[in-house]
Amino acid sequence: MTDPFPTFPADFLWGAASASYQVEGAVDEDGRGRSVWDTFSAEPGRVVDGDTGAVAADHYHRYAEDVALLRDLGVGAYRFSIAWPRVQPDGSGPVNEAGLGFYDRLVDELCAAGIAPAATLFHWDTPQAIEDAGGWLSRDTAERFADYASIVGERLGDRVRMWMPLNEPVVVTMFGYALGNHAPGRALGFEALPAAHHQLLGHGLAVRALRAAGCSSIGIASNHAPVWAASGSEEDTQAASAYSTLVNWLFADPVLRGEYPAPELAAMVPGPVVEDLKTISEPLDWFGINYYRPTLIGALTDGGEGHVEGAMLPPGLPFEPREITGYPRTDFDWPVVPDGLRETVALFTERYGDALPPLYITESGCSYHDPDPVDGRVPDPDRIAYHDAHLRALHQAMADGADVRGYFAWSATDNFEWAAGYRERFGLVHVDYATQRRTPKDSYHWYKSIIG
Ligand code: FCB
Repeated sequence: MTDPFPTFPADFLWGAASASYQVEGAVDEDGRGRSVWDTFSAEPGRVVDGDTGAVAADHYHRYAEDVALLRDLGVGAYRFSIAWPRVQPDGSGPVNEAGLGFYDRLVDELCAAGIAPAATLFHWDTPQAIEDAGGWLSRDTAERFADYASIVGERLGDRVRMWMPLNEPVVVTMFGYALGNHAPGRALGFEALPAAHHQLLGHGLAVRALRAAGCSSIGIASNHAPVWAASGSEEDTQAASAYSTLVNWLFADPVLRGEYPAPELAAMVPGPVVEDLKTISEPLDWFGINYYRPTLIGALTDGGEGHVEGAMLPPGLPFEPREITGYPRTDFDWPVVPDGLRETVALFTERYGDALPPLYITESGCSYHDPDPVDGRVPDPDRIAYHDAHLRALHQAMADGADVRGYFAWSATDNFEWAAGYRERFGLVHVDYATQRRTPKDSYHWYKSIIG
């Protein structure tokens, strides 16, 4: 018999998450400008099945129905993202009132449903015009991002309860600029490092801009997970540590400590680095971790080649990812390692100690290729097991002393899973893309019972 589900603090925040390009559709409506994901997904061979976010889950038109589903689910907060090219079609200059108006209505709808709006300002849909001017490789993008943050903060700051300027800068840097399997599809290897620095700088400037606009409760949604060494050998241990520096600490140390984790990295990013780090480490009200799975890393073997998610790592790196075995896998082929969430939280509490603000798990979830609904039901026992086990692991981390304030299930509804298109389904709510019909899955009913 499994142990009873643990009791979370009464004020623990239960949430669900989404992102603009993954759910909204309506890419040509109400003056929205193009984003890098429109461009990227239109290029043949970039996205599985040639899928694009042009229609997605049609949330732009169906947001009221989606908010009603969230209300019935009982979540205390909904994490959504604002599409920069809806607010400023070219990423700078005048506000597109119709675009900003959509978020005004969404936020009002959430408030009326008693759900706290939790807004991400950048979940990867860079305006194409900003990309054409250098994108995150250009320092100017950080400044433009801060202007955009001011606009949104001034309009929505009276109602949005939690703010995240950035979502997962590591993924944008690595997949978008270093390896090229996400928009904007650049494969620059280590030349991508300025994109990390400028996103972090944009984050810091946006934190200041939001505060100046009167917004409170500001954090970040940053992707983190343990990096395990393939063996106890010195080579593998060093390789794993180097990889963790690149994917974890390169993004968390500047924010939480005001420094880069290695002098070599600090020397590779454009400056003025010391000055910028002061901006980047602007104190946060909380820190958000997106957790999915650990990585297993070994030293590069003879003839081996490093690759992540099907994309080749630049040559000359001293490490290579290895397959994690001995755990169940999702239909997206990701290993299911609930204790990795406890371990991630523990890594943060140990590394940052008193400098760590309260934590939220801003995303965790799994893709299973669910059956079509039958009689209004979608049985998804594996997804229930995933969230159940991850929440138990999180509870353990809290029992060990971590200050964790909430958990956002990824995702509210099925949606466009980036380069993997629509085959991957992460939602608590099933979406039939032919009819846009929503069907709450068994995991939705389970989550509702947990929220209580
Ligand atoms: C995260 C992203 C999110 C979603 C999940 C599965 O990396 O933030 O948009 O795609 O993975």
